[in-house]
Amino acid sequence: MTQSFTREDRNTDIFNQLSRGYRESWMRAVKFNFLMGPSVDIISTVTAAFVYVLGIQWMLGTDGGITVGVLVAFTAYISRFWNPINTLANFYNSLLTAISYLERIFETIDEEVQVKDVEGAVVMPPIAGKVQFKDVVFGYEDGQIILDHINFTANPGESFAIVGPTGAGKTTIVNLICRFYNVTSGVVCIDDVDISKVTVRSLRSQMGIMMQDSFIFAGTIMDNIRYGNMKESDEDVIRAARTVCAHDFIMKMEGGYHTQVNERGSRLSAGQRQLISFARALLADPRILILDEATSSIDTETEIVLQRGLKELLKGRTSFIIAHRLSTIQNADCIMYVDRGRILERGTHEELLELKGEYSNLYLSQFDFLKK
Ligand SMILES: Nc1ncnc2c1ncn2[C@@H]1O[C@H](COP(=O)(O)OP(=O)(O)O)[C@@H](O)[C@H]1O
Ligand SMILES: [Mg+2]
Repeated sequence: MTQSFTREDRNTDIFNQLSRGYRESWMRAVKFNFLMGPSVDIISTVTAAFVYVLGIQWMLGTDGGITVGVLVAFTAYISRFWNPINTLANFYNSLLTAISYLERIFETIDEEVQVKDVEGAVVMPPIAGKVQFKDVVFGYEDGQIILDHINFTANPGESFAIVGPTGAGKTTIVNLICRFYNVTSGVVCIDDVDISKVTVRSLRSQMGIMMQDSFIFAGTIMDNIRYGNMKESDEDVIRAARTVCAHDFIMKMEGGYHTQVNERGSRLSAGQRQLISFARALLADPRILILDEATSSIDTETEIVLQRGLKELLKGRTSFIIAHRLSTIQNADCIMYVDRGRILERGTHEELLELKGEYSNLYLSQFDFLKK
């Protein structure tokens, strides 16, 4: 992720800064520990020595002073006296460490969530799939306007493609559909319900979102497709994998569906990871599906397999597809060309080619590129 954005240097700087701060406070704690422990030890040893010296002098003294028993008892008392102090010092140290851990935990818990349920938020009823933007204006926290009066209506089952240059606002549009942020003005409606009035949980649980890098966790392929969806049987999982054309490559692995993959799925190619996430999405069966450059990191050969899987996955769902490679989206019901937060062109592939505008330029440039 870091490498793909060529941010290594900046991230290294940030990391170094953080580690320096951490090192300094750790050194403080260590210093305290190393001063406290030995000084308590030294003091107790010195007192013990002192007691022996004095005691033996008194024992040998002419005034008949003390017996051996008294001396032994006294030294035992001395160590009894120092033990609790030692314990207290150690306890104080553990307490400091524990407090600093606790602080981290509370910092994480206290982290403000971007979007909260409004008072009296209702549960989103089962979604049919109509998505509507009405005059949506949006800016991130810095106040700059990113989306400028966006209007569109996607009917249930339609596939919408969003294309445009980097930074145009494509990801921002789909972020608003999932309500990762609240709109600045205007309304986003799903099935004619204003999504700012429903609970975030009930909304997002009905959406499928796929990003460029699909999430794979350590476990079997079966678990990865099922993804906590425990009510689905093994047969359901296999059927989903077949539908998106993932079955063949899975069966070629030594353990089939029970092959263990590690976190980030490094044994799998980008295309294979994507096929697994397609199967996962199909099994979850959301009415609205969002693919944000989900097919970007895939070679052309895998893409042909993916295209078939994708077609099955999209069937009967409202989908929003952001793709660089225009071959992925030619069959979309509507293509929107977005630049600087505005929809400049919209229509089917043929209509936009006819228009000879930005989309047609983009298409022709990719087409030329392929021919070379
Ligand atoms: N979390 C954020 N905070 C502030 N600005 C953002 C954030 N995410 C994106 N932007 C800005 O919003 C604009 C649109 O970004 P984005 O929707 O990600 O574009 P695209 O997906 O079309 O490449 C860019 O100018 C980007 O810098
Ligand atoms: Mg984006």
